[in-house]
Amino acid sequence: MNFAIIGTQWGDEGKGKIVDYLSEKFDYIVRYQGGNNAGHTVVLGDQKFPLHHIPTGILHKNKICCIGCGVILNPKVFLEELQSLDKRVGNNTARLIIDPKAHLIMPWHILRDSLTGGKIGTTGRGIGPCYEDAIGRRGIRIGDFVYNRNIKKQIQSTIGYYADLAKKLNAQTIYKDYSTTIKAILKRPRVSLGDVGVLLDEKQKNRNILFEGAQATLLDIYFGTYPFVTSSHPTLGGIYIGTGFAPQNIKTVGVVKAYTTRVGEGPFPTELHDKVGKHLAEKGHEFGTTTGRPRRCGWLDLTIIRYAKRISGLSGIALTKLDILTGLTTLKVAVGYKLKGKVIKDFPVFVYDLERVQSIYHEMEGWNDDITGIKSFNNLPKQAKNYVKFIEKETGLPVKYIGVGPERSQLIIR
Ligand code: GDP
Ligand code: IMO
Ligand code: MG
Repeated sequence: MNFAIIGTQWGDEGKGKIVDYLSEKFDYIVRYQGGNNAGHTVVLGDQKFPLHHIPTGILHKNKICCIGCGVILNPKVFLEELQSLDKRVGNNTARLIIDPKAHLIMPWHILRDSLTGGKIGTTGRGIGPCYEDAIGRRGIRIGDFVYNRNIKKQIQSTIGYYADLAKKLNAQTIYKDYSTTIKAILKRPRVSLGDVGVLLDEKQKNRNILFEGAQATLLDIYFGTYPFVTSSHPTLGGIYIGTGFAPQNIKTVGVVKAYTTRVGEGPFPTELHDKVGKHLAEKGHEFGTTTGRPRRCGWLDLTIIRYAKRISGLSGIALTKLDILTGLTTLKVAVGYKLKGKVIKDFPVFVYDLERVQSIYHEMEGWNDDITGIKSFNNLPKQAKNYVKFIEKETGLPVKYIGVGPERSQLIIR
């Protein structure tokens, strides 16, 4: 069986923790989009592993991790990420196969992002400009550094497109830097280039694949809150174009944070600016894993989860950070919106509408007991069980996993 773990909100739902937990049951763990704008955290005892480019399954020695052609790579950051794992886990990592068609984040992408990304509140990692070059048919892929004899000319020609930045760019230096770094990456014992589509196709009959989404549904370039989105497809469809795995049944699990957060600009109907918002931010340590920026916080919004269910055909939910709600007297969950006096249950596609909706809230009683050590659903306080059951009723999805703390073991399985 093949599984996909997909963010349902605006990212940072705790995908890393769920992928890490599930990795043991799968042979292949595959990233299919995004780059080092992602920050997926795994916590093992007192050790924290923030992963940006590398699939979260890397901490499971006998697995194979793949980076599909839909992922974009900054080689220097990628190498640093690998080296930081060396220091902490040595050779005890999964094998890593990188698709040669994966595009590279080049210095001009980061420069361009720093000039134009402010309005969106991007991570500044060059993500949008890199995908622009890919679509514009002038991008540079990791395989070009191995197979393309005209790579230097190709760099020079793409720089030509960036006339306004040209003074800051030197094709020869960039070629040397990238070539050295990519050689260092590919020389590593457990890392190689390989066509990920071919690999997954050969193996999928008797092996299990776990697809690891980065970002989330509302950051999808088409289905998200455009233009306040990233430039890839975190949703189910992104798997097929980001790996070459032929469309077929993949069981999708949506990761839902028990409240909502967002980093960067754009509308956020259930956002809180009061002491509850402060409680969520402080208790939940809501600071970006990649940029360290404070995350905006608000109540859970079920219109978003129903939308994510439709777009990616979710079959279940992994609910994370339920423990962060402990201590709040009253909990609110948005079940729909009012727009121009009318009740709407569907997610408004245009941000002009989303900016003007009023959330319709359902209120529930909170709980005070510490739930971070609880291992079974039945042992949760009655109010916490009600919260979970309410989500199931309103979304029509079973909540299969419940996170009660950051640690791998702090997960209730149902
Ligand atoms: P991702 O981008 O979706 O992988 O999520 P991040 O790693 O950026 O952010 C989620 C944060 O919440 C990380 O610091 C996780 O360690 C932490 N986390 C995940 N699940 C839980 C949970 O159930 N409870 C608590 N308290 N923290 C969690
Ligand atoms: P993970 O995988 C949260 C947001 C940025 C910005 C917008 C566009 O950790 O959930 P970009 O640099 O991608 O062009 O920025 O998308 N963003 C994320 N927010 N989690 C992420 O990844 C994100 N990746 C991008 O903050 O608003
Ligand atoms: Mg994150």
